[in-house]
Amino acid sequence: MTVPTQTSSLPSADQLSRLLAGADDERTPAERAALVRLMRLLADRPPPPDPLGLFPRYAELHARFLAAAQGPDGDQLEERFLELYCHLHGHEAPYTAAERRRVDETGGYWCHAGGLSPILKAEPWVRADTRFGDLGAGNGLQGLLLQKLFPHRHTRQLEISSRMVDCGRVLQDWLEIPEGRVEWIVGDVLDAPIRDLDLIYLYRPVRPEGEGRRFYERLAVELDATDHEVVIFSIADCLREFLPADFAQFYGDGHLTCYRRGGPPDPG
Ligand SMILES: C[S@@+](CC[C@H](N)C(=O)[O-])C[C@H]1O[C@@H](n2cnc3c(N)ncnc32)[C@H](O)[C@@H]1O
Repeated sequence: MTVPTQTSSLPSADQLSRLLAGADDERTPAERAALVRLMRLLADRPPPPDPLGLFPRYAELHARFLAAAQGPDGDQLEERFLELYCHLHGHEAPYTAAERRRVDETGGYWCHAGGLSPILKAEPWVRADTRFGDLGAGNGLQGLLLQKLFPHRHTRQLEISSRMVDCGRVLQDWLEIPEGRVEWIVGDVLDAPIRDLDLIYLYRPVRPEGEGRRFYERLAVELDATDHEVVIFSIADCLREFLPADFAQFYGDGHLTCYRRGGPPDPG
């Protein structure tokens, strides 16, 4: 008799998907499948190394998530997974005095998590040769998970907090993402290299007023100087008044707004 080997601490992908597909789950089957893959990714990984002391509750939240996966409640499973994700993302970027000064000058936002929906909805826009950039990346978790789920040519993570970038490098290693795939830049979004990006992700890194407004004005100039297909995923969006006229919005749910210019027809 062969004894089945336990390959994951979670139920099968089909079981998880059924659990998550409650009556009010508005995700497409592909988005739900991506969520299941993310869950399995974190379920089966040992806790991340934590040289900076940023993940004190990881083991506890991981155990709560695994326990919820054994139960009958899809909403609870999702909540427990979100808690784990938010803990990994962090919400308070540690700044040096100079970094803090710059954040204050540009009206920078705290390191709130952009959530899972931009990662789950990005698949149709990620090709093997995609160059992705998160402008104001925190520890880069969004870009790392996207790279892990849908491997692509290049991930640029630009963030003003050097310690968040240090944390992101540790997470990259933990997730076993090849070094050459991810570029880390400790810097100001007002100086961000933008022209070569195909998929731009941002969660309103600075206020669109005062000095921060220059970031959005420069983003528009940089985009205007390109003629390749560009897709933008924007959380807490304030881009409409700045974007070149040939950018059209193709999605919006009050949290995430998506724009695109050029390229083949909407993949659906
Ligand atoms: C709302 S968080 C978004 C984090 C991540 N992109 C996400 O969506 O989950 C905004 C990030 O922008 C960073 N930030 C604020 N001002 C900045 C600036 N002038 N230049 C670069 N990054 C900045 C903050 O440190 C923070 O990590």
